[in-house]
Amino acid sequence: MESLHEHHHLGLATASFYHLAHPPATGHACQGLACFAARHDAPQRWSAASSDTPPLYCVGQCFRGPAAWGDDDPTPVTARRAVLLTHVGAGGMRDIGTYRKGGGGQALQRALTLQRDALIGQIVRSGLRGRGGAGFPTGRKWQAVADAKAPRKYLVVNADEGDPGSFSDRLLLEDDPFRLIEACMIAAVAVGAAEGFIYLRQEYAAAQTILQAALAQARAHGWLGHPLPGCEHSFDLTLVVGRGSYLCGEETALLNSLEGRRPNVRVRPPQITEQGLWGAPTLVNNVETLCAVPWIITHGAEAYAALGHGRSRGTKLLSLNSLFRRPGLYEVEFGITLRQIVEDLGGGLRRGRLMGVMVGRPLAGLIPPSLLDTPLEYEAMQAIGGAVGHGGVIAFADDTSIAELMAEVFRFGAGESCGTCTPCRLGSAELARMSADAKAGIKGDGARWRALVEALAAGSLCGHGRGLADFARRTFSPFRREPFCCTRCCGPAGRSRICATTTA
Ligand SMILES: Cc1cc2nc3c(=O)[nH]c(=O)nc-3n(C[C@H](O)[C@H](O)[C@H](O)COP(=O)(O)O)c2cc1C
Ligand code: SF4
Repeated sequence: MESLHEHHHLGLATASFYHLAHPPATGHACQGLACFAARHDAPQRWSAASSDTPPLYCVGQCFRGPAAWGDDDPTPVTARRAVLLTHVGAGGMRDIGTYRKGGGGQALQRALTLQRDALIGQIVRSGLRGRGGAGFPTGRKWQAVADAKAPRKYLVVNADEGDPGSFSDRLLLEDDPFRLIEACMIAAVAVGAAEGFIYLRQEYAAAQTILQAALAQARAHGWLGHPLPGCEHSFDLTLVVGRGSYLCGEETALLNSLEGRRPNVRVRPPQITEQGLWGAPTLVNNVETLCAVPWIITHGAEAYAALGHGRSRGTKLLSLNSLFRRPGLYEVEFGITLRQIVEDLGGGLRRGRLMGVMVGRPLAGLIPPSLLDTPLEYEAMQAIGGAVGHGGVIAFADDTSIAELMAEVFRFGAGESCGTCTPCRLGSAELARMSADAKAGIKGDGARWRALVEALAAGSLCGHGRGLADFARRTFSPFRREPFCCTRCCGPAGRSRICATTTA
């Protein structure tokens, strides 16, 4: 275990990549998009946040934004269908004895009685898809790692929860750490991994303390670091804390970070299921994805597959930001419409008129009120240019103009580029500058804007650059009036300063 901490040292070349290479960020306020959406509620805090160095995104307190490091107000939690949130919000389940008395560990016992193929078959038949953003079928990924022939394999838990606006993983980590540890043990048995790592964002200080304590309890209890009951397989799990980088949530950048390298995105192939951490087959799964596993094994794949809608099975956690009347964490079945999320769960906005909602991730387009009847489901969201993503739901009121939002998204996006691809490294910075100019009403070059966006779309290795391009294409060209324009930008009576001063 110590070996990884040794590997995870920061050389000069890697330290410069991170915002929080030299912790702590005590006193810093959050610059995340959910806090941006709520900036008029605490203008001074936001103004301090947006000029803070290093920047801080995001502390997972989006339900009470604008937030700051160290805020830990209790999160309102509601489960319409409790698969994942059985312990979350009710004071948490942080003692392994209590967890076991409540039925914890039964899924592991059952998993240990199954043949590997039967165990993976449960995950395949459940229809579970990755909750980290891409929605990749989890069972297929497990099968690929299980099939890989190698002397060592690794399991990596992506607990980086970098998408501003999402705090679901934080709650699972803080309130149900043994569910995650149990899930990791099941996954490790299924794919044949003897060692695993939880890569946790540094901004989640409480989760770090809770996880360390939970891992120690699991070791003392014989769950970790010992042969598992009835089988020869032994598995250990180590917590590694990130140093402040949105990009480290991307799985190949994360693996480079774990290896102590500069966390640039890797070119694929090879897929990480074949050559991942230190060149060995690696299973990377998100926290929420893994936390569904014990329920699936206990209740059966068919029970899980009976929940949901279309090709999106099971439940999803949603994080609603502070602009809603009822912000907080919700668990819903897939298939609920965006309107039900906004109006029934969130209770609508507590002030202003809804300009749109950003669902899933910061670069997913802004969904206008006219599309709120879309069901929350991977394919349906994709069809309208949105995403299920990480389940963050950020409402924007009409006190944010599209131009302001565009400038903010590009400021964030340019700052987080890993720099591997030229259109992303240089293009996103130039687009950030142009969108800041457009926000200030300065005339810009529409053809140049569009050329840069097209280069970003075509020449980006990972979802970050492509996401920025999609965001620009779908939401707004600051140099052309769009039907999607808000009243603050153009006003009901006509063209805004931006539309009037820029070229078409
Ligand atoms: C720029 C970028 C940032 C990402 N950030 C996260 C993150 O913070 N947490 C996460 O679980 N997945 C994140 N992902 C997705 C991961 O690369 C990966 O798909 C995921 O961890 C796989 O787990 P899953 O199959 O369980 O979703 C990100 C992807 C990109 C392109
Ligand atoms: S698109 Fe951007 S973030 Fe992604 S690999 Fe290229 S430079 Fe890095």
